[in-house]
Amino acid sequence: MTDLILTGASRGIGAALARALAKSREYRLILVARDRPRLEALASAIQKDGGEAIVVTGDLSTLSGARALGQRLVEQVTPGATLVHNAGIWPSRRELTVDGFETGFAVNHAAPLLMQQALLEAKRLRRILLVSAGLLVKGRFDAARTPIGEDFSSLRTYCDTKLGFALEMRDVAATHPELDVLVLHPGVVRTDLGARTGPIGWVLSLVKRGWETPEVCAERLSRILAKERWSPPGQAHWYVEEAEQPWPPVTEDAATRRAVREVHERLRAMG
Ligand SMILES: NC(=O)c1ccc[n+]([C@@H]2O[C@H](COP(=O)([O-])OP(=O)(O)OC[C@H]3O[C@@H](n4cnc5c(N)ncnc54)[C@H](OP(=O)(O)O)[C@@H]3O)[C@@H](O)[C@H]2O)c1
Repeated sequence: MTDLILTGASRGIGAALARALAKSREYRLILVARDRPRLEALASAIQKDGGEAIVVTGDLSTLSGARALGQRLVEQVTPGATLVHNAGIWPSRRELTVDGFETGFAVNHAAPLLMQQALLEAKRLRRILLVSAGLLVKGRFDAARTPIGEDFSSLRTYCDTKLGFALEMRDVAATHPELDVLVLHPGVVRTDLGARTGPIGWVLSLVKRGWETPEVCAERLSRILAKERWSPPGQAHWYVEEAEQPWPPVTEDAATRRAVREVHERLRAMG
């Protein structure tokens, strides 16, 4: 049994994935999110069914929260672990974190990167799966403006931050050939992601009724996790649901990749 760290485990796709993976008995699940009561209820349900799960709470909206979470995980996790980056948000308006970052950039890119850095330095990881989004094809990443949300739009920022972190994973795979790294679009899933209030929220909830359930998506992700290998050493492959696809053209753009690396260096200096 190896450890599997699952961020965003309190709700939506993450909670469903935890329940699905618990059935296989293949992993000790490390359930990560902010909402401790929800995580503890999930861990208890898994343990009652004979699975293994522990709770590690942490906030991925601040750099100090990410560092502290990374350290807590290093203490708990044994080498050979799988990290599933699943936590994510779709912000509706520009809000800045205590670090001065736009919140979507912080949660979808900067903080998970710092958290992961601690685990890499402590040599805890063997595999990393990033739950990204097909919408990254609409992303543009501006090293000066995206981190602070100067180019904020409620559609664009989600795509930009998903693109940025996906490109980080390609670089992580290149610099860590010992890892098996995969980036994927999980499906179109009925969760609270991007929930809105008022008439727009009402229309959105009607639209979402036609989307697949988190349980269907979780079965798909479990099948992907059960694969022996996702990508050749030094590369991260891109899946749309269960199908491997060529990386979209925007992810090959040299200027965009340079912009992400520039921001990476700034984050490392802050780390
Ligand atoms: N739903 C879809 O159709 C869809 C499509 C493509 C990609 N995705 C991706 O799938 C992933 C999961 O999304 P979902 O639809 O399951 O969303 P969700 O139901 O809104 O769940 C989001 C999860 O992220 C966690 N999270 C949010 N902010 C956090 C923070 N500051 N610190 C730590 N954890 C935080 C939440 O936990 P707490 O609030 O307890 O902290 C929650 O467990 C996301 O990365 C999303 O971009 C979803």
